[in-house]
Amino acid sequence: MESTTLKTIIQGIPKAELHLHIEGSFEPELMFEIANRNNIKLDYDSIDSLKKAYKFNNLQEFLDIYYTGAKVLIHEQDFFDLTWAYLTKVHSQNLVHVEVFFDPQTHTDRGIAFEVVINGIHKALEKAKQELNISYKLIMSYLRHLSEEAAFKTLESSLPFKHWIDGVGLDSSEMGNPPSKFVRVFEASAKQGYKLVAHAGEEGPADYIWEALDLLHVVRIDHGNRCLDDEALVQRLVENKIPLTLCPLSNVELKVIQKMEEHPLVNMLQKGLLATIHSDDPAYFGGYMNENYYETAKALKLNIEQLMQLAINAFEASWLSPEAKENHIAQVRSYFNSLD
Ligand code: HPA
Ligand code: ZN
Repeated sequence: MESTTLKTIIQGIPKAELHLHIEGSFEPELMFEIANRNNIKLDYDSIDSLKKAYKFNNLQEFLDIYYTGAKVLIHEQDFFDLTWAYLTKVHSQNLVHVEVFFDPQTHTDRGIAFEVVINGIHKALEKAKQELNISYKLIMSYLRHLSEEAAFKTLESSLPFKHWIDGVGLDSSEMGNPPSKFVRVFEASAKQGYKLVAHAGEEGPADYIWEALDLLHVVRIDHGNRCLDDEALVQRLVENKIPLTLCPLSNVELKVIQKMEEHPLVNMLQKGLLATIHSDDPAYFGGYMNENYYETAKALKLNIEQLMQLAINAFEASWLSPEAKENHIAQVRSYFNSLD
């Protein structure tokens, strides 16, 4: 397929994003703007020199820069601007539904109130719902390099805003911080009505995916690449239709794989896994949803049926109502039918 044709096709697909860290959508231009108005000096003297620092050998090297960038976010307006910039960007890429992660502890540990963070994010999400017709869910992620006690404090702080939060997740440094560390706080989160997801098997072993399923009782696995090391685990994921929210550009940038041609996506689809494509931290990894679809499709030579399957899987894996899912999936099918 011609690359312009492929890009045009991808652009037109109605899409859902289920794995996106709002702090990872912080573009250098906006970071400098917000740093300036908050009188904060960044470690880099220009947008270009900041962008040059975006070279990572592993997850931790990325996280160090990602947490540093987030330090310029102080006021509700900053969180609003960050979220609104993401939403207008993905609106231009024909996203119709987003499920967004935020990391409260990245901010509360710097003395920013939970309510400042969530008010800004929530206002932007509501505005996008009204003005851009983008539906949304919001997922609060616990930082796994911190203690379970700290996660409990975060859960406590979230309760006045429970009606704005759909689920909890688990992110940050995976190795050495297995899901088993967070069993009690996930149980308590479920009791509050939150849905559960966790990053697992990005750098960590297949065992961490088992733990996320059996100990945390998550309904989706974020990443999950390493499930392929364990055939029994693959069977479990297939049988229980547990979605894997894959992030191909992230995997290349964080050296989870050496190059896109090695991405296990096709293998996963062939095994019957409910694999979906997302952007993770688009400002850091070189692309939003369209770029993730495009680079994956090009490297793995995905055909039209596979592209359609991926788009459908994302709605299938979402937390939309059965009616809304059906509606979006019908739109995807009708879009692909209109192509030939
Ligand atoms: N993995 C773990 N933690 C994260 C990521 C990721 O890809 N992005 C932001 N926090
Ligand atoms: Zn992630």
